[in-house]
Parts: sequence; structure tokens; C-alpha cells
Amino acid sequence: MATICVASTKGGVGKTSLAFSLAKDLKYRYATNDMSVVLNKYKNARYYPNKIPLYPDTVYDFGGFENPHANEILREADIIILPTTNDLNSIMKSLIFIKQFRDKPILVFANMIESPNDAVMIREKIHEHFPNLAFTYLRRTKLLKNALESGMSASELYESNNHTQHLYKQAFAEYSKILNLFVTESPTVP
Ligand SMILES: Nc1ncnc2c1ncn2[C@@H]1O[C@H](COP(=O)(O)OP(=O)(O)OP(=O)(O)O)[C@@H](O)[C@H]1O
Ligand SMILES: [Mg+2]
Repeated sequence: MATICVASTKGGVGKTSLAFSLAKDLKYRYATNDMSVVLNKYKNARYYPNKIPLYPDTVYDFGGFENPHANEILREADIIILPTTNDLNSIMKSLIFIKQFRDKPILVFANMIESPNDAVMIREKIHEHFPNLAFTYLRRTKLLKNALESGMSASELYESNNHTQHLYKQAFAEYSKILNLFVTESPTVP
């Protein structure tokens, strides 16, 4: 049971790609204030141009603009995942966003990482201002794009066959670190 927001005020950082895969893998609702291709790909996807309802078991995909309704959900969410790329504008917008929501659990998600150094650089720039903020990363990969295009989650695509398991091995391991934050172990039967 979680309300997860994937949000950033910067466009094109990977919000929709991540939000869709997480929602489908978790069997959660996907909700957005931004028209997205997910609406044609996922039966549990809903578009809310105005008032946005607060639900549990939902991944919200909040597009890159100020929206009072989105802000209400962000304030109530269990976690905000903040995708950030290695570009100064993206990092600056992330810092401003974190300041606005610094009392919330935020996971900084460095996306489209080209080299390990990229991730270190982004983490240092964020931690300089907000030490201890949770941080994770995903390399530059076609995993999320190909998953969304085919209407499969990242896990479904990865697990399709030997070829995809080979192709997306590292990227899937990085994606799984995020997914596993929300996967609760099924209770063991005594
Ligand atoms: N890890 C990655 N590696 C390479 N490309 C990626 C990665 N994550 C996302 N992308 C690609 O980046 C582009 C932008 O991603 P996406 O549409 O998810 O971003 P967004 O933040 O939702 O954008 P918008 O602000 O326009 O809604 C897409 O083409 C997507 O496939
Ligand atoms: Mg989007």
C-alpha cells in the first residue's frame, strides 16, 4: 500500500517511463495530470486534467509544471521519486523542488547515466545541499522505452526471453533496486 509520486519540474527526465513500469510491476494504478502514451498502453491508467484524487496503490506521474492539485498529492504521498539527469538545469530544478518538499521522503533518481562518474557528480551536487537524501540511478538504456512501447513493464520485458535478459541485465538490476523498495515479501506460512 503506497502512494508514489514520480515528479519533477524538468521535462524529458524519465518520469513517464519510470512511473509506467513501476505501476505495472506493482499492479498499481497509474495517474497523471499530463497526457501520456501510458493512457493507451495500460488499463489501470487514468488522466486527471483538473482535480486529482488521492489513492493508495497508485503511481502518479506529474508533468513539468506547477499544478496546485498535483502539489496536494505530492504533500500526501508516501514517497516522491525525483528523476534528474546530468545537466545543470535539471540538477538546479531538482534542488529547488527538494527545497519545496524537503519535509517529504524523496528518492533522487539519477537517470540516463552515461558513466559511473555521472552518478557520483549528480549525487555530490545534491548532497552538497541536502546531505543524506536517498539516491539511486539508472544507466542510459532502452529498457524503459522499449517496455513502454510494447506495453510491457520493465520486468515483463526483461523476463521475456534469454536475449532480453542478457541485453538489459545491468539496467534491470538498477531498476529492480527501485521496484524492490515497494515489493513487500509475502508472509511466510508457518
Ligand atoms: N534510462 C534511460 N536511458 C535512456 N533513455 C531514457 C531513459 N529513461 C527515459 N528515457 C527516454 O527519455 C525520453 C523522455 O522520457 P519520459 O517521456 O519518460 O520523460 P518525462 O519526464 O515523462 O517527459 P515529459 O516531461 O515530456 O513528460 C523518452 O524517449 C524515454 O524513452
Ligand atoms: Mg511524461
